[in-house]
Amino acid sequence: MRKLLIIGIGAGDPDHLTVQAIKALNRADVVFLPDKGEEKAALRHLREEICARFIEKPYRTVTIETPQRAAAGSDYRGVVVDWHARIAALYARRFTEDLAEGQCGALLVWGDPALYDSTLRIVERVRAGGLAIDWEVIPGISSVQALAARHKIALNRIGEPVLITTGRKLAGGFPAGQDSVVVMLDGEQTFARIPAEDLEIYWGAYLGTAEEILIAGRLADVAGEIEAARSQARERHGWIMDIYLLRRRPAATEA
Ligand SMILES: C[S@@+](CC[C@H](N)C(=O)[O-])C[C@H]1O[C@@H](n2cnc3c(N)ncnc32)[C@H](O)[C@@H]1O
Repeated sequence: MRKLLIIGIGAGDPDHLTVQAIKALNRADVVFLPDKGEEKAALRHLREEICARFIEKPYRTVTIETPQRAAAGSDYRGVVVDWHARIAALYARRFTEDLAEGQCGALLVWGDPALYDSTLRIVERVRAGGLAIDWEVIPGISSVQALAARHKIALNRIGEPVLITTGRKLAGGFPAGQDSVVVMLDGEQTFARIPAEDLEIYWGAYLGTAEEILIAGRLADVAGEIEAARSQARERHGWIMDIYLLRRRPAATEA
């Protein structure tokens, strides 16, 4: 049977790769590199750099051209499901044509495959479509972990939960009943559009890379500074990836 290794590669620093991920890379006969067109060249280069640095045996790379997602409009879920179906058809064809029976392929996933990434759902679709392929998932260091480590903070308060959500969801307001909220996939600087009282922010962009930027403080005090830093960096590099923790300011007794 064909085998697929879905490998979390960390959030930007090649040193994020775990020993398990390096071992998995070295089992691969073929490394599949999805090319989403809009994906930043910098991210593609990091994948290539990881292969060159860590794979110590001959391997082939195969690029999978993936279609762009249609504008979401009101039916966000429907658009994404349709997009996944089209990607699954392309993946199925590449796995069939570029991976022989008994061979092992690797898919390199940014951060951790379990967090805001569609690869696992797409591979499920490929299997549901009839291709007999076994698969393993190798966890990676996510941008959430990288954010916490770089700010030297615990994400949760003592015994309290953490919510991980998107900028799209945060636009509806700071989630009721929550204390600590990690926001990903926010292209709109939503933190600057919600009431700031009682909130603090720990923001990071390009985590794990030479371009990394970190800003933290009371949201009311630093929101403008983050907006300025974000738009300058975006203009300079042509793209940006950022993530932040918002949380209610601690009571005087909180450790
Ligand atoms: C499609 S999601 C992928 C998340 C990934 N699977 C993970 O585990 O981090 C992309 C979002 O992750 C966050 N992200 C990923 N890498 C990042 C980095 N190096 N610096 C800041 N944010 C990052 C950003 O919020 C970005 O919009």
